[in-house]
Amino acid sequence: MAKTRYEIAQIPGDGIGPEVVDAAVAVLNTAAGRCGLDLAFTTYHVGAAHFVETGHAIPADTMRAIGEADAMLFGAAGLPSVRLPDGTEIAPQLDIREHYDLFASLRPVRLFEGVPRALTRDDIDMLVIRELTEGLFAGRHDAVTNDPSQASDRMTITRKGAERLCEMAFSLARRRKAAGKRGHVTLLDKANVLRSQAFLRAVFDEVAARYPDIGTDRVYIDAGCMIFITNPGRYDVVVSENQFGDITSEIAAGISGGLGLAPSADISLTHGLFQPSHGSAPDIAGQGVANPIATILSAVMMLEWLGEKHDDPRCTQVAALMLEAVEKTLASGPRTRDIGGTATTGAVTEAVVRAVMTAVVTAVG
Ligand code: NAI
Ligand code: MG
Repeated sequence: MAKTRYEIAQIPGDGIGPEVVDAAVAVLNTAAGRCGLDLAFTTYHVGAAHFVETGHAIPADTMRAIGEADAMLFGAAGLPSVRLPDGTEIAPQLDIREHYDLFASLRPVRLFEGVPRALTRDDIDMLVIRELTEGLFAGRHDAVTNDPSQASDRMTITRKGAERLCEMAFSLARRRKAAGKRGHVTLLDKANVLRSQAFLRAVFDEVAARYPDIGTDRVYIDAGCMIFITNPGRYDVVVSENQFGDITSEIAAGISGGLGLAPSADISLTHGLFQPSHGSAPDIAGQGVANPIATILSAVMMLEWLGEKHDDPRCTQVAALMLEAVEKTLASGPRTRDIGGTATTGAVTEAVVRAVMTAVVTAVG
């Protein structure tokens, strides 16, 4: 059901997180205003800086409140200088994924006019799906052994986790096919060596049998990484376990324009958290040079998701307006440093806001 107002949990986090989330909110507010959509933002503080200040990376009441919102818009969390006694970083984004069972991270990449290309190819248009709740991250809460001679991590794939992941991949491939794309799913795994991965492949095969209209491929992760570089057009939807997906989604970002353009939607069947694929980029934080486009495109995914979930064409309209404004801005400039320009975060954001203001808005019925 369409709502009169959508509550958005705004979670800026660390490093460049606040800079890029502010940019996305400015564009969202302008686009929503033009389409008569009411978005209400509430800010929540989580992350490494919050941990240093309070001892909590994400307080329990914050965890509860962000899930009561209609959607979560996240920047990035974590700083390499803030670590737990076991040597790992605080990572509230992982806690949120586990708490709300956000099992699939949808990370689309495509080429944009005006953006320099790492590869001289024009056939890059894919959706990388990273599993988010198990795989090689499954043992995060296993007991610490305190063995000075070794440390290990656990790769676990459950039937439930594999099945819902593959279902998501195939249903999205079907939707892409309906939109004129290939409609094909590639599983990247290590089924030649790891039992968990052979199991994932077996479940993939079961689900694939239910989608005879969708082409499939099964490729070992090592060769699969090479194919991103040598023949990216072979990929439409690409799916894999958590850590492999973490890596391959950044390869995909790298071949298409970089992390500054790579959005993501971390979703369950009920909740959605939308954030750029990049981290807190402490090396450029506070300088006003971060590329806000990845976060603005994540906000586009948020509005598409809300539009579908609530059957609300106004949300879809806001998403389309924002996407058009991003495409126009990338094509003409200004652009940030990471994609060959010299503009600041603020100048790019203003340009996108201007493009939203001047776009033609047609009434939705
Ligand atoms: P990163 O993605 O923050 O940065 C990698 C490189 O890309 C850096 O050179 C950075 O300057 C550049 N970059 C990233 N986003 C950019 C943007 N919007 N515009 C221009 N350049 C951009 O990854 P890194 O350095 O490995 O991690 C930094 C911190 O972020 C760590 O503490 C890490 O744990 C955390 N992290 C958090 C994530 C999350 O909250 N979802 C995801 C990945 C990392
Ligand atoms: Mg990553």
